[in-house]
Amino acid sequence: MSANQAPFPATRFRRTRAGASLRNLVRETEISVNDLIWPIFVRDGEGVEEPVASMPGVVRRSVDKIVEAARQAHSLGIPAICLFPYTDPSLKTELCEEAWNPDNLSNRAIRAVKDAVPDLAVMTDIALDPYNANGHDGIVRDGVIVNDETVEALVKMALAQAEAGADILGPSDMMDGRIGAMRAALEAAGHVNVTIMSYAAKFASAYYGPFRDAVGASGALKGDKKTYQIDPANRAEALRCVERDLTEGADMVMVKPGQPYLDMVREVKDRFGAPTYAYQVSGEYAMIEAAAANGWIDGEKVMLESLMCFRRAGCDGVLTYFAPRVAQLLNG
Ligand code: PBG
Repeated sequence: MSANQAPFPATRFRRTRAGASLRNLVRETEISVNDLIWPIFVRDGEGVEEPVASMPGVVRRSVDKIVEAARQAHSLGIPAICLFPYTDPSLKTELCEEAWNPDNLSNRAIRAVKDAVPDLAVMTDIALDPYNANGHDGIVRDGVIVNDETVEALVKMALAQAEAGADILGPSDMMDGRIGAMRAALEAAGHVNVTIMSYAAKFASAYYGPFRDAVGASGALKGDKKTYQIDPANRAEALRCVERDLTEGADMVMVKPGQPYLDMVREVKDRFGAPTYAYQVSGEYAMIEAAAANGWIDGEKVMLESLMCFRRAGCDGVLTYFAPRVAQLLNG
């Protein structure tokens, strides 16, 4: 110790950590039910709740059960659910026409939920993969995922979802120019208050594996999605994508996956100040569940800690399969 230094630490951070009251007083970040968006999987049938093998605790629900889940979400105070359809393989085609069928599974589910629980916000997914015989998010011609023709299809899909009553459209396809095209079409059709949460910084990730099982796309997918999703190595490119989507008319932006990409969340939030979300994706969920099932981690604690970290990184909200469980804990 040098002569001019006091014989005790100048700052004792442990003072404000010593008891729960002081810890509560200095806590900088909160997670609340208002920050949760619950992704749920829809399938056909009635009274069906079918487990997804790679996502323990997650089920595919028929529309009547989706309505039940929506009521539960609303009573827990969760502001939004996000619907993902598991499409019957017989409805999948090369041109993905089922995607903009006004009576497809997803649009029927939107109507049923908005009828039963009008105050719950319904978010959708806009991408062709659930309807595509190739499993890709875009139309494939001669082995190439064609951009502009796909955007035209996505616009039709967006309009059908808006007609059905969706509050938040979630383009997850990563085609260029889709936000501007959708925004223009929504305005022209009078849907001026339908919001768009762009999957703006969506990376080509192996963490989506269990989701592709859940929506039945993994068997169909030929190749990978690297010609449209962002290389996980590319930070500057992701920021440019976010800027582009905001300029084209996105109201909210998303970073995806979540936990390994929280540096991107911080940078997007600081740079653009827009409502910023992250998706704690299926692989992240499966990893926590698997470790917890083996008794290697305390699943409940890790779930809450992970969501707190999304908030600390700058997320205004998180899409998470844990949403109802977290809400139950937060509601005490
Ligand atoms: C489809 C889509 C994917 C996810 C959301 N929308 C998968 C993909 O891009 O292959 C992933 C969600 C998750 O893993 O939980 N466009």
